[in-house]
Amino acid sequence: MIKNGHHHNHHQVNTAAGKDAGTTPGATACSPEKRRRRIRVWCDGCYDMVHYGHSNQLRQAKAMGDYLIVGVHTDSEISKHKGPPVFTQEERYKMVRAIKWVDEVVQGAPYVTTLETLDKYNCDFCVHGDDITLTVDGKDTYEEVKKSGRYRECKRTQGVSTTDLVGRMLLMTKAHHSNIVSITRFSLYELRSEYKAKLLLSAVLGHFRLSGVDLVCHGKTEIYPDKDGSDPYAEPRRKGILRTVDSGNSLTTDAIVQRIIKNRLLFEARNQKKEAKEIAVIQAMKRQEEEKTKERAQAVL
Ligand code: CTP
Repeated sequence: MIKNGHHHNHHQVNTAAGKDAGTTPGATACSPEKRRRRIRVWCDGCYDMVHYGHSNQLRQAKAMGDYLIVGVHTDSEISKHKGPPVFTQEERYKMVRAIKWVDEVVQGAPYVTTLETLDKYNCDFCVHGDDITLTVDGKDTYEEVKKSGRYRECKRTQGVSTTDLVGRMLLMTKAHHSNIVSITRFSLYELRSEYKAKLLLSAVLGHFRLSGVDLVCHGKTEIYPDKDGSDPYAEPRRKGILRTVDSGNSLTTDAIVQRIIKNRLLFEARNQKKEAKEIAVIQAMKRQEEEKTKERAQAVL
């Protein structure tokens, strides 16, 4: 079993929590017949620029069962069906693995969700937000699992999407990044505890009274003075509780914006394509609804 590993083969399963996938905790004393079978839930997606919409989807999915497996698509699959992702597959695997409701990550899961995949990972059903995901040819990627009754829907979180974040970043100048940072940042609650320990406490803490706080940590990046020139970490520094920690990662919001700007045209095309596809689906659904209403009205007559 690979514990929160960093092996990157296609279709490889990483047991993020290092838990036993097949048994209920504490059930070893029961006979196998008495042991309640755990419900294994499957989710898949791009999980690009992971945001609270993604973690909320995974939270809802986990609540529908006991064990959550998340399939994350490769860069080439995403490029083929919807345009290039901002984050590489390795980064996206790591980000999904950091979400506390995720028990396993399947790297390089196929874009179209089939019964074969659900069976391969012994999953009872899959869960997706209440929006439609289409292949490059405009086919519903969940068609097969929907038909077989192994599809469940959860509520899509309104007001946040990768497309929207990329759009905002394309419009932004360097001076206005803070809105994006706050939206993409996870809440501490959503992260696994081992990641929480590594998380850097925000400079904001410096402005509160530090009662009950034993340690204030900042990464290796430079500490910029506040607008009035003061040190945002003055208080923890005075108290001798400021520490520097190494996140082991040099990624910054600026670097992400630079990636988007570098591939500006590709991302613009991707956003436009996605919007056009969504509008087409909404219109088709509306037409279907109107036809049904007409049929019902005629049946009454
Ligand atoms: N999702 C959600 N709420 C959002 C965004 C995504 O519930 N605001 C869900 C999707 O419905 C899907 C999962 O998160 O079940 C993974 O979505 P993903 O494949 O990453 O892409 P999109 O649905 O296109 O989301 P986004 O536009 O944010 O990339």
